Amino acid sequence: MIFSKELLNKFELIETPFYFYDLGLLKKTLDILNRESVKRKFKVHYALKANSNNKILKTILGYGLGADCVSGNEVELAVKSGFKNTQIVFAGVGKTDIEIKTAINHKIFCFNVESLQEMEVINLIASSIDQTANIALRINPNINANTHHYITTGLEENKFGINASELAQVIDKLNSFKNLKLIGLHFHIGSQITYLNVFKELCIRINELQKWFADHHIHIDHINAGGGLGVNYEKPDENLIPNFKIFFEIFEKFFETVPGQSLHFEIGRAIVAQCGSLISKVLYVKEGVNTNFVILDAGMTELIRPALYQAYHKVENLSSSGQQKKYDVVGPICETSDTFVKSVQLPETKRGDLFVIRSTGAYGEVMSSGYNLRTKVKSYYSDEL
Ligand code: LLP
Repeated sequence: MIFSKELLNKFELIETPFYFYDLGLLKKTLDILNRESVKRKFKVHYALKANSNNKILKTILGYGLGADCVSGNEVELAVKSGFKNTQIVFAGVGKTDIEIKTAINHKIFCFNVESLQEMEVINLIASSIDQTANIALRINPNINANTHHYITTGLEENKFGINASELAQVIDKLNSFKNLKLIGLHFHIGSQITYLNVFKELCIRINELQKWFADHHIHIDHINAGGGLGVNYEKPDENLIPNFKIFFEIFEKFFETVPGQSLHFEIGRAIVAQCGSLISKVLYVKEGVNTNFVILDAGMTELIRPALYQAYHKVENLSSSGQQKKYDVVGPICETSDTFVKSVQLPETKRGDLFVIRSTGAYGEVMSSGYNLRTKVKSYYSDEL
């Protein structure tokens, strides 16, 4: 049980469903992240897309991380929350003109540029307001991240990045873009990566590409290796804090730094996933033909990951210690995909029992929706209850 009796009593008084965030765990996670990154002089940008709640951002800010944004609104929020503009990166295949202008006006650290056409547009907008924009070329390394195909980004078949075969053309063009300054190379091969050998492959690929730039006498100030470190959804209590040490060691060992160059990361999930829990109550227990259904008051509107990526989240009954029975745990939405987990053994469950869906701090609340005109889910924090 991760929650104290006292906390459970407080949960009983709050209208469900809601998200609960353990800020103590978030801080411990950030302590270890910083310990492992700072000593290697690696720079970490927090990927706001994973969770952009005010309290989460403020906590992360306290640890000096930069920000990784994927929309103009995220850039605005990062600035408003106090992230230094000189530590903000902006990625995405489809940046609009307004978003580009916003980011240039904030003088962000770097645009991660995904196509030749985008480069042209940023140059045009920067020159129209007499500014220079720093850019990193997002290169598609064509590496399989061995994760769910919806969150694989580094293969040629994916929409992301510039293909290595286009580099000569890109560099040629870049020389004529007077309002762009090339300062980096950017990579991001996917998310929820647990087979860490792919990061070694990424290092080897980056080293090869770096040689190409050296041969062309182009100095690159920084390499941004993206994010993607996975978390343990099956057994969260065994790995509440992801193994940042092993992750960074791979880069320390296999990435060949060019003198004067810094190595950056954009980490989202591994920082915030385990500190979040979705708390819900059982509305009904229904006997089915082949199984029994536990129908929760939380559904795919609060947590879409199981429906969208067949993702597994550990589900626990916090109220019962009865005999184990087999259940399908589902939500109330009018979709069969609104299922959290099938055929799971849980203590005998009844209407009103409190349930927790674990490891939901990343891509949980941010991806919630108002489908079926559902009320926006609320969030509570460990320092408030
Ligand atoms: N950098 C870029 C360019 C990204 O696209 C992403 C995530 C990250 C960094 C952060 O990756 P992380 O460290 O969190 O793995 N909604 C999906 C995940 C989508 C990830 C999108 N990009 C899910 O719920 O699994």
